[in-house]
Amino acid sequence: MQLDESEDVLKEQSEYIEYVRSWNDEYYRKNNRRRKAFCLTMGCQMNAHDSEKLVGYLEDMGYEMTNAEKGADFVIYNTCCIRANAEEKVYGRLGWLKTYKHKHPDVIIAMCGCMVQQDTVMEQIRRTYNFVDVIFGTFNLYTFPKLLATRIQSGSSVYDIWTKSKKIVESMSAMREHKFKASVNIMYGCNNFCSYCIVPYVRGRERSRKPEDIIKEVEALAAEGVKEVMLLGQNVNSYGKTLENPVSFAELLRMVNEVDGIERIRFMTSHPKDLSDELIAAMRDCDKVCNYLHLPVQSGSSRVLEKMNRRYTKEKYLELVDKIKKEIPDILISTDIIVGFPGETEEDFKETLDVVDRVGYSTAFTFLYSKREGTPAAKMDNQIDEETAKERFNRLLEHVNSGVEKISETLVGTVENVLVEEINRQDKTMVTGRTERNSLVHFKGGEELIGQVVPVKITQNKIFYLIGERM
Ligand code: SAH
Ligand code: SF4
Ligand code: F3S
Repeated sequence: MQLDESEDVLKEQSEYIEYVRSWNDEYYRKNNRRRKAFCLTMGCQMNAHDSEKLVGYLEDMGYEMTNAEKGADFVIYNTCCIRANAEEKVYGRLGWLKTYKHKHPDVIIAMCGCMVQQDTVMEQIRRTYNFVDVIFGTFNLYTFPKLLATRIQSGSSVYDIWTKSKKIVESMSAMREHKFKASVNIMYGCNNFCSYCIVPYVRGRERSRKPEDIIKEVEALAAEGVKEVMLLGQNVNSYGKTLENPVSFAELLRMVNEVDGIERIRFMTSHPKDLSDELIAAMRDCDKVCNYLHLPVQSGSSRVLEKMNRRYTKEKYLELVDKIKKEIPDILISTDIIVGFPGETEEDFKETLDVVDRVGYSTAFTFLYSKREGTPAAKMDNQIDEETAKERFNRLLEHVNSGVEKISETLVGTVENVLVEEINRQDKTMVTGRTERNSLVHFKGGEELIGQVVPVKITQNKIFYLIGERM
């Protein structure tokens, strides 16, 4: 049984956790300070949630977490490779780390995440950055204590990258960034192979967690005071298809909706091709499921969408949006858009602008197409030159911003329930939180409100955020 297997796996790791912990305790006794660990998250929410698991392990192993890389005794980069600039950032920082390690040879440096799943990257690291002590990939994150203990015992580098997942490990503890909101993986990997995207190659095939394991985790989070859960998967709409007893994502949402104590349910990411009527009905019926949907369109041109292997057309996407708006009239929708996909013409691009104008997104994450070696799009003819892509990108931003402004304007005067997240960074007399529909709101208030859901009247539209007054 999976759970028993998970228990065995984690039991094995706990011996290594003990080992590193005593090594760190001994250091503490001698030096009267704890060894400090620094963890840098470079990717998406999945990657950030993996980092929470790493931090959980690091604290169990007797490290004190620090936000300052300089001065840290252990440094780990949890990398991303979705676009070239994500990788360039890592190489830039590795240059700095090389000097740091040279000055402080006792510092242990580790890398993990999507980027190191690529053979070319590992070759480069072996050639140029072999001062990195520990490397592991996306499939064996749970073996981190073993790898670190082995490095400490042996004094030599330990690199261990798997090419596929061996099992889903349940019950790993994670150190959450917030007390009142938490991410929950519902599935791993992706089977979609959008032609531009590296994720299926570095995260493997789609694997869903069993609903009972997910519910158990959500119940435990609720018992700890968590009010908002974010269900994570690369394509949540195809959740459960590969399970022994298939369960749909809509059914899962209804189950999570029943968990006492949870007040808000979010999820990402939804692939338009798999968004069913059943799911729209579940979103409409479940009171805790937020009236907010991230629905990446990528391009508005059916021709480009086909080359992207997205498996929907512009018309299908717009029909879907209409259907959702009809069932859930106050929903806000956000999206991801890629500009400059190989072969994108001015006409194709105008189709994208048309979709942006017609849907009216509350937020849109816009990206310049980035060529990823190993993906089908990297080999396509007519790669778009940088100048054209950038010019389109700027025009796209104008459309996105004017759409966002219009949506934000409709929110002025409404009363929104805001989950307060933190003291405002600029003005300490204010707090910052998110509405159910994911708008960022600042309003007068103090620390005691953090983690509370409070009604706030929206008074001003600042386009990318709102100002309100507590009711
Ligand atoms: N699974 C999610 C997306 C994960 S990646 C989905 O299908 O929607 C997040 C976003 O990065 C994607 O939606 C896409 O807009 C962008 N992206 C992925 N690969 C890219 C590439 N090669 N160049 C530019 N943007 C890319
Ligand atoms: Fe990438 Fe497409 Fe999978 Fe999203 S659905 S992770 S864009 S391949
Ligand atoms: Fe996420 Fe980047 Fe990997 S977007 S899945 S961390 S390539």
